[in-house]
Amino acid sequence: MRRRWSWKEVPGKLKAELWLSALFLAGLPRILAKPSLMRLACALSWTYPLGRAYRVALFAREETFGETPLSTALQILSAAHVRAGQSLEELGSGPGRLSLVGASVFGLECLAVERILHFVERGNSLSQKLGLEVTFVQLDLARWRTSGFDWVYLCNVGIPDPVRDHLAQELAGTRTRILSTGQPLDIPTHTVGCIGKFPFSWGRVPVFLQQPIWLNIADTRSLTSSLEVG
Ligand SMILES: C[S@@+](CC[C@H](N)C(=O)[O-])C[C@H]1O[C@@H](n2cnc3c(N)ncnc32)[C@H](O)[C@@H]1O
Repeated sequence: MRRRWSWKEVPGKLKAELWLSALFLAGLPRILAKPSLMRLACALSWTYPLGRAYRVALFAREETFGETPLSTALQILSAAHVRAGQSLEELGSGPGRLSLVGASVFGLECLAVERILHFVERGNSLSQKLGLEVTFVQLDLARWRTSGFDWVYLCNVGIPDPVRDHLAQELAGTRTRILSTGQPLDIPTHTVGCIGKFPFSWGRVPVFLQQPIWLNIADTRSLTSSLEVG
């Protein structure tokens, strides 16, 4: 007797790849509207054909790998109101899609931190080829030290709690604004807000923006004094 096909039997990694392709197609109008993004999308699909990034991660025993799709990166950075010339550090970058979008579309200077050497080497040759301000470095996040970047992006999949705690300790008291998916870091010196829910291959996920409290106070003071002058 013929067995009926069931979506439940499709292996998880293949499902994730299919979702990523579906999200790419859904975001295509946004990508086509920006020539720099189109160029980046072509170069990325050449460097990482369908499934390559997942295989690289699996080979390095990174079981919980996932990526921020290009059009999602575009939406997140637009919603965060990043400005040209600002710096952004992507923690646990994988192929570094968000950093590459940040540099090519928004004029950000980016540092992509990743422990898998393959991603670091490919990322650096890709950004050099495209002439983008993105540098990939190999580092374990457990030993990461803050360098005072304007922004940090953390895609919170597969980052264990002790590493998240370490990142939170490093970022406490800094002026860095933090974008993180799924859940915010525990940083008492920063306020937390949600900038929206965005599509990932594992569903629509909230993205949090954490900003230093004193930056908000400074904003309020300058607003008050400009109101008084007015
Ligand atoms: C969920 S993926 C996110 C990739 C990328 N940020 C994105 O949004 O498309 C997490 C990445 O973090 C890296 N990673 C996990 N733990 C790490 C650690 N302790 N040090 C450095 N990189 C780490 C993994 O190798 C993987 O590439």
